[in-house]
Amino acid sequence: MARQKLKMSLILMAILWTVVMMAVPTSATLFYHGHEASNLPEQEVDIQMGKTIYSMSCIHCHGVQGKGDGGASIFIGPYSHPRSNDFTAGVFKFRSTESGHLPMLADLIRTIREGIPGIMPSFRNLGEEGLLQVASYLREAFIQRELPTKTTIKYVDHVGPYTYSIESAQRGKNLYREMGCPTCHGDNGKGSGEPLLDIRNLPIMPADLTRPETFGNGIPHEDIYRTIMTGLDGTPMPSYSDAFQGREESAWDLVHYILSLGER
Ligand code: HEC
Ligand code: HEC
Repeated sequence: MARQKLKMSLILMAILWTVVMMAVPTSATLFYHGHEASNLPEQEVDIQMGKTIYSMSCIHCHGVQGKGDGGASIFIGPYSHPRSNDFTAGVFKFRSTESGHLPMLADLIRTIREGIPGIMPSFRNLGEEGLLQVASYLREAFIQRELPTKTTIKYVDHVGPYTYSIESAQRGKNLYREMGCPTCHGDNGKGSGEPLLDIRNLPIMPADLTRPETFGNGIPHEDIYRTIMTGLDGTPMPSYSDAFQGREESAWDLVHYILSLGER
């Protein structure tokens, strides 16, 4: 009987959570569109609107002070990764900048727009202006530092290796071993099965590379390229931009190999 009750309340909690998750971004959009223009300087308006959006759509996971301790955080990896970031610590995973650097504003906007599969919803509904406002609010209120406006990470986007081919994926397979990826991701990309630790000492599993739909940094070729070149700061996933120095185009081979793993 007691077990039955526990089961029922768990189901109710799950339903409530789903309803809240569905309603929150929508209410933020409604409020956003209904807001009257004020006479504050343009920059001020952005931050204030960003704060409103944050309070309605982000605060329950990321917390009042951006420390990742919002009330809903307990539902998301309380004892393990992923758990909401501490924005004030200045360590960000999803960047187009070098390892150890802050992300660009565009990186924050991309993460907020696209969301993180199974963890954080997409906030595409805010529109580019709303995304800019909430990202600017994160910078002003929590990160409290200038963000980089450029990066030295080279995006090699010429045709050639960028075009998927079986030969390119085959070259990538050799690189996968040469670069030591199997140490964490296993010979078959499914992961070594051994949990590692993240910067907060929380257990973290290396991504299952045969399931690109789980990648938080995005699945398109460019996103996987960025993951490899920049690494995911705060996690054991290192940056390989030094390893590919001077032969950046061959990193596309590795991208093609990873995408080929997902096709099985
Ligand atoms: C359902 C909970 C939830 C909501 C709602 C949510 N987030 Fe997140 N967010 C997370 C979690 C958990 C992570 C960490 C994911 C990880 O590390 O893989 C995260 C990560 C991020 C990151 C990436 C940081 C990095 O390491 O690069 C940004 C930026 C971010 N959130 C901004 C926002 C903003 C802005 C909103 C509101 C518009 C929002 N989030 C709403 C749970 C949430
Ligand atoms: C020291 C261990 C380690 C090594 C070596 C390593 N990774 Fe990772 N990798 C991880 C961990 C841990 C994650 C999960 C990070 C997370 O969940 O935030 C990850 C995540 C990833 C992801 C998914 C990122 C996303 O968007 O969520 C890709 C793709 C990836 N690694 C590719 C590679 C490739 C290619 C190599 C070799 C060039 C490599 N990794 C080497 C530990 C490692």
